[in-house]
Amino acid sequence: MTQLPTVAVIGAGSSGIAALKRLDDRGLSATCFEASDRIGGNWVFGNKNGMSAAYRDLHINTSRDRMEYSDFPMPSDYPDYPHHTQIAAYFDSYVDHFGIRDRIRFETKVEHAARLEDGTWELRLGDGSVERYDALVVANGHHWDQRWPEPAFPGSDTFRGTQIHAHQYVDNTDMEGKDVVVLGMGNSGMDIAVEASYVAANTYLAARRGAWIVPKYIFGRPTDQLRNDPRIPFKVRQRVIHQLVKAYTGSPERYGLPKPDHKFGEAHPTISSRILDRIQHGRVTPKPNIERLDGDDVVFTDGTRVHADVVVYCTGYKITFPFFDEDFISAPDNHIELFWRVFSPEVPNVFFVGLLQPLGAVMPLAEAQGAWIADHLRGEYALPSRPQMLERITEDQAEMRKRYVASKRHTIQVDFDDYLYDLEGELAAGAERAKEAGFALPVPHRAPERVEA
Ligand SMILES: Cc1cc2nc3c(=O)[nH]c(=O)nc-3n(C[C@H](O)[C@H](O)[C@H](O)COP(=O)(O)OP(=O)(O)OC[C@H]3O[C@@H](n4cnc5c(N)ncnc54)[C@H](O)[C@@H]3O)c2cc1C
Ligand SMILES: NC(=O)c1ccc[n+]([C@@H]2O[C@H](COP(=O)([O-])OP(=O)(O)OC[C@H]3O[C@@H](n4cnc5c(N)ncnc54)[C@H](OP(=O)(O)O)[C@@H]3O)[C@@H](O)[C@H]2O)c1
Repeated sequence: MTQLPTVAVIGAGSSGIAALKRLDDRGLSATCFEASDRIGGNWVFGNKNGMSAAYRDLHINTSRDRMEYSDFPMPSDYPDYPHHTQIAAYFDSYVDHFGIRDRIRFETKVEHAARLEDGTWELRLGDGSVERYDALVVANGHHWDQRWPEPAFPGSDTFRGTQIHAHQYVDNTDMEGKDVVVLGMGNSGMDIAVEASYVAANTYLAARRGAWIVPKYIFGRPTDQLRNDPRIPFKVRQRVIHQLVKAYTGSPERYGLPKPDHKFGEAHPTISSRILDRIQHGRVTPKPNIERLDGDDVVFTDGTRVHADVVVYCTGYKITFPFFDEDFISAPDNHIELFWRVFSPEVPNVFFVGLLQPLGAVMPLAEAQGAWIADHLRGEYALPSRPQMLERITEDQAEMRKRYVASKRHTIQVDFDDYLYDLEGELAAGAERAKEAGFALPVPHRAPERVEA
């Protein structure tokens, strides 16, 4: 039998371990490189890789039933929205349950990945050693490279208070008795403004755009567990959930927040059951965007000015692949052209897992992507032609641009249920193509086991 390609996986966060497990299930020899000394990535509070955005009191905002892997339920005594320690423990137990820990090389950062002329990947590792693989799976996460306001606000270089990005936020202890300005209407902005509001003298929540705020529960059930049938047109589903959210919370303007310039589902969901209370309790004051920083003050675009000790920029993240040469593979302004957010039409043996921003949780999607890559590498799923892939990418991007608010945070959006549902059709089409191609392996096994130093 022809030998299957060897695979390197970069990252043992929730995406990398899901891919690793699926590759292993299908008999592919995969090695996962993890910079940290443990698995879990973002969900390891204080992760020694310096890449985790988890704060002390972080809880998931996608419910546990939506987040768990399809073949490994979360423990039944977990609450609907577990704490990060429980989530990290769950990922840790996943690798032991499926016996894949020995495929993970901990404290082994991939410093550089180069595609050689014969198509194999040469990885330079943190200890200076070099290894070769036939295929590369990238699962390095996309919530660790901080995006600060671009350009920086005037006066930020001479501001006398402290400025941090949400990624640096640990807990509210340093905010006690202080005046805190939180910028951004995403989930970091919500959580951090709420936490600050319990100890700060004043908490201001600044935003350049309004958002629909989704409660964690509707009708006593986690909101993301409401029926969302992909066979029903999106516009119909959008109307229903929009009305539901409005019925529960009313319009954001009622709380002094900016009026959203879009309908529900046209921005990444901002989920919080607490922010509106904290505003209505007078503990968080909504503000428009920051215009400039001025000594000890923050001046907003409506001309109002407040004293500020701390400014927290909850302004999102950049998609970055530090191990690739930038002119080879990169994501300027968070844009990267991938077929179904997995396959590159230009580089046939690199695959991306978890590089999406779902309305729903990432993990079951990463799992499906891992299985898909495995089918592909086994010759059981064949990609369409390059022009067809490019056509699909163009369509996807046009659809995303049409639907979503123009923002660097909306470049890799997918609808959880729709993605999984549509994937079934794509897998069937790819299986047919593979059959026509005689189940030829798309990536041959060439990489030597050892590389001479
Ligand atoms: C505060 C916060 C809360 C979130 N809450 C949710 C939620 O409730 N539900 C949800 O679905 N998503 C949530 N997300 C999204 C989050 O991205 C996913 O939950 C999840 O962490 C994605 O897993 P990942 O494996 O893709 O990335 P990560 O968790 O970031 O893991 C990437 C791994 O790759 C490793 N790595 C990176 N580069 C290298 C390298 N060069 N060599 C070797 N190893 C490397 C890292 O050490 C890390 O272990 C949240 C994000 C943030 C920031
Ligand atoms: N509890 C949880 O589970 C939890 C907590 C935190 C984060 N998360 C997840 O982590 C990911 C990142 O979330 P995030 O909130 O950190 O980032 P985000 O979703 O990218 O939101 C960034 C926010 O900052 C605003 N912004 C960006 N640049 C700005 C600028 N220059 N001036 C003014 N405003 C600016 C954006 O506004 P525009 O819309 O106008 O661009 C947006 O409101 C998401 O997947 C989120 O769901 C989850």
